[in-house]
Amino acid sequence: MILSDPIETPNLMLRTLQATDASQSYLSWLSDPEVNRYLEIRFAKAQELPDLVNYITSVNDSKDNLMLGMFLKEDDRHIGNIKLGPIVTPHNRSEIGFMIGDRACWGKGYAAEAIKAVSEYGLETLGLAKITAGCYETNIGSSRALLKAGFKHEATRPSHSVSDGQRVSSLLYGLIR
Ligand SMILES: CC(C)(COP(=O)(O)OP(=O)(O)OC[C@H]1O[C@@H](n2cnc3c(N)ncnc32)[C@H](O)[C@@H]1OP(=O)(O)O)[C@@H](O)C(=O)NCCC(=O)NCCS
Repeated sequence: MILSDPIETPNLMLRTLQATDASQSYLSWLSDPEVNRYLEIRFAKAQELPDLVNYITSVNDSKDNLMLGMFLKEDDRHIGNIKLGPIVTPHNRSEIGFMIGDRACWGKGYAAEAIKAVSEYGLETLGLAKITAGCYETNIGSSRALLKAGFKHEATRPSHSVSDGQRVSSLLYGLIR
């Protein structure tokens, strides 16, 4: 799915990624152990630039996913991505996922800002009834960003995943129109 006009937040422009956004820095986020610490991508094989290009193209071509790059308004720097999808049409709901790969940009409120804006787009413009998200209980930044963006904690799946060599629970969040 392609977004024709970027979504603007106080600090960010959220826009559809182009093949030319597949940069070395974007690639480096995926293998940075601090960035991928709570992401399933840490289990995937290492990616190369052509893999990133293919991923961007396939998500943009997909009817069920809207992936946007987060670009800092001050210098147009690509700092992360946010994805609404997969959209589950029969239930009129979607998952949301996000990653700020540029660690210098953590803790500045950007994730909460982007989650709020993309969720509003999903609920109001796409007409979705519900948006869901999940994270490991140990991912405090993700939990807090979701709560700040208006999500409610709906459930905890005990001992659901392995993180840093320990079993951790998963927290499930939801935002209902
Ligand atoms: C998790 C992540 C999205 C948070 O992004 P962020 O832009 O730093 O989050 P925000 O600045 O909007 O923070 C929201 C709140 O969490 C707090 N926070 C952020 N990171 C934190 C951390 N590591 N520990 C404790 N609190 C943290 C912020 O201070 C802020 O607190 P507030 O509610 O008092 O204002 C970002 O660290 C990231 O992308 N990490 C790697 C990928 C990832 O884990 N993605 C999510 C998978 S579910």
